[in-house]
Amino acid sequence: MDAPEARFAAPPNALDAFWMPFTPNRAWKRDPRFVTQAQGMHYVAPDGRRILDAIAGLWCVNAGHCHPKIVEAVRAQAGQLDFASSFGLGHPAAFEYANCLTEAAPEGFNRVFFAGSGSEAVDTALKLALAFHAVQGQGQRTKLVGRQRSYHGVGFGGLSVAGIGSQRKHFGPLLPGVSHLPHTHDPRQNAFSRGRPEHGGEAFADALEGILYAQDPSTIAAVIVEPVAGSTGVLVPPQGYLERLRAICDRHVLLLIFDEVVTGFGRLGAAFGSQALGVMPDLICCAKGMTNGAVPMGGVLINDRVAEGLYSQPETTSEFMHGYTYSGHPLAAAAGLATLEVYQEEGLFQRAAETAPRWEAALHSLRDAQGVTDIRNIGLLGAIEFGSPAAAKAIAARCFDDGVLIRAVGEALVLSPPLAIEDSQIDQIVSTIRKCAGEV
Ligand SMILES: Cc1ncc(COP(=O)(O)O)c(C=O)c1O
Repeated sequence: MDAPEARFAAPPNALDAFWMPFTPNRAWKRDPRFVTQAQGMHYVAPDGRRILDAIAGLWCVNAGHCHPKIVEAVRAQAGQLDFASSFGLGHPAAFEYANCLTEAAPEGFNRVFFAGSGSEAVDTALKLALAFHAVQGQGQRTKLVGRQRSYHGVGFGGLSVAGIGSQRKHFGPLLPGVSHLPHTHDPRQNAFSRGRPEHGGEAFADALEGILYAQDPSTIAAVIVEPVAGSTGVLVPPQGYLERLRAICDRHVLLLIFDEVVTGFGRLGAAFGSQALGVMPDLICCAKGMTNGAVPMGGVLINDRVAEGLYSQPETTSEFMHGYTYSGHPLAAAAGLATLEVYQEEGLFQRAAETAPRWEAALHSLRDAQGVTDIRNIGLLGAIEFGSPAAAKAIAARCFDDGVLIRAVGEALVLSPPLAIEDSQIDQIVSTIRKCAGEV
């Protein structure tokens, strides 16, 4: 790979000031790992070593790193219009991107509210749900339902509906009126499922009826789930689960929110996971793959029912009292537009759908690798589970040293490569995991 400019090419001497997120800073800084460049499927370490990126950065870089078209779009926009607020002022890129994005979205999603990250997208969606009901004269619908083991970012709203206790424990009671569905991971019945597990889907969803009975359904605003739970270790929804959740929400007039921050933009072989899985929510949260990770951005796609409900207010009022300085940021909008064009021109969603069977077969070939207790996959997502978090962490560290970036989450290695991954690269990922699992 050609070195572009030698900016930030070597690790710095002083590591203390940058407080790294979700990182044990002191331990990491005793044994730091750096990357300084990226291109296509690879990162490059300071010593020039190429590292295959099996996690698309952090579920973001679906079109591969430093895609020339996206790089150029950001460069050009930065030189033309670096910033403009969208509070009562327009700049064309945000409108152009919104038009193209809603074109790619499922039918009936004709509006998008821009945010700066996945966490902001989630908080935006929760507030949209409450505001929608309030405008309908249903202001008593203030409660929310999330799910155990879900991740919805780190805002107080997202953290309240999320279901990973270790991430909540220092932060007090969070939002009141939140209940949690059970998670859908049932290795006793569904271990080593290929794609959507066969067992338990409707029963897991029926737990919602129990929550509604206990809480009174007329007090609930919305249910939020990740269609496939990503950050907790790729938990694939069992067959019939999402369909049943949708039916229960409809029966009780609740909004259904899909957090598609991971499953959006081709990960499941269609633009959105809801399209791939055939179940439509009312609100779709997205981020990450929106701009291919190149510029921070999040958003909520809003269906016509919710939009028209909020637009029924008098024309002189803001339909939604919410917004961020960086909603529709020019650089993010330019990156988003270029990213959508790349997805379309290179047929990346279709390519992901075509690669998925090969991906599935390759991951499941690890069933007899040392210490493997479960394997899960859907689209170009996967998880290989081992007996302990320590084993998963040690294997991920060895894989990095052997040239493959994989993330350990709890007991699992999680995988989400850029969508253009080639067969030989899938083979490299699988053989590296097999080797490293045998060494710990
Ligand atoms: C499903 C889901 N929602 C929300 C978020 C939060 O996104 P961000 O880190 O951009 O705030 C993430 C991040 O991984 C995610 O996976």
